[in-house]
Amino acid sequence: MAKRRIGVLTSGGDCPGLNATIRGAVRTLNGTLGADNVEIVGIYDGFLGLIQDKCKVLTSSDLTGLLTLGGTFLGSKRTPFKKMEKIEEDGLDKIAAMKSTYAKHGLDAILALGGKGTHKNANLLSQHGINIVGLPKTIDNDIYGTDFTFGFHTAVEIGTEVLDRIHTTAFSHERVMVVEIMGNKAGWLALYAGLAGGADVILIPEIPYDIAKILQAIQARKDACKPYSMVVIAEGALTVGESKMKKSERAAMRQGNTATYSVVKAISDAGFESRAVVPGHMLRGGTPCAADRVLSTQYGARAAELICAEKYGYSVAVVGGKVTENRFADMAGIAKLVDANGDIVKVARGIGVSFGD
Ligand code: F6P
Repeated sequence: MAKRRIGVLTSGGDCPGLNATIRGAVRTLNGTLGADNVEIVGIYDGFLGLIQDKCKVLTSSDLTGLLTLGGTFLGSKRTPFKKMEKIEEDGLDKIAAMKSTYAKHGLDAILALGGKGTHKNANLLSQHGINIVGLPKTIDNDIYGTDFTFGFHTAVEIGTEVLDRIHTTAFSHERVMVVEIMGNKAGWLALYAGLAGGADVILIPEIPYDIAKILQAIQARKDACKPYSMVVIAEGALTVGESKMKKSERAAMRQGNTATYSVVKAISDAGFESRAVVPGHMLRGGTPCAADRVLSTQYGARAAELICAEKYGYSVAVVGGKVTENRFADMAGIAKLVDANGDIVKVARGIGVSFGD
């Protein structure tokens, strides 16, 4: 049997479960094809490593201890899709460079672990003849065609712990604590962590808010002898007014800031003592939780099966609890957003959570 050479890269923002996913894929490839028949080539720093030929054959010691390891041992960079086909001023043709690295290392296929941008790049490379399989990662859980991305469950756990710890100070000091949770376009993380952490108000990009409604919810709690509140605000939450603006207008107005501090100010101005908490990249850090370790292993295994079956141009997925795959053409670059009228939002409203609308 000819030796199969499989490249692996991690691209975009890091998250827990990247290394565990690689482990799942490598172990399954070794188990299915026989370890002597597989060579794993690490491509460092995502697609940039493929462009710049930053590759190395990985040994078993490189591939040990991955299940619990946070971040990505391969390094990661954001390589914007819109610049992929652009020829640089120095004449660099990135697609040609990637094809050349692929050929130089005699790769049979690449496993690309990443989010929406990564899948767009993977789709492009697939169209250029590279055999590639995608594995959906992101704490944002916003990749179309899969119920869950790996990294999300861990971030929910971390966000929930932040809320639990902040809850006690909210209660002790009778304050309104406003916790900013990552998620620029999609509010999944804020919604899940908010629900798990008992938030009273959850603000997500998909449901524009009105500050008056937030104040009403806080006042209603005070009237019910609960003089403290927990507000979860997604990084990309926006007011009703902002939601009607063009993206460029909004960006100019925001100047890179989230809405968190303006919400805290409005709450303070209304007479409630308020503080902001921004856990930021802590939400993406450290070891994957058990649910993500299992999902990563399932995804890695499925991707390895696709490679063994020479079925390329797909991204692995989980739909209704079943591990499956989607063609890049059907999912690459499509955002999965929270449905403002969906079940989980209804459940939250049913237990009294305000979305500020
Ligand atoms: O996509 C994951 C994510 O953590 C988003 O939630 C967040 O908006 C973004 O990445 C932050 O990116 P960076 O790490 O480049 O600051």
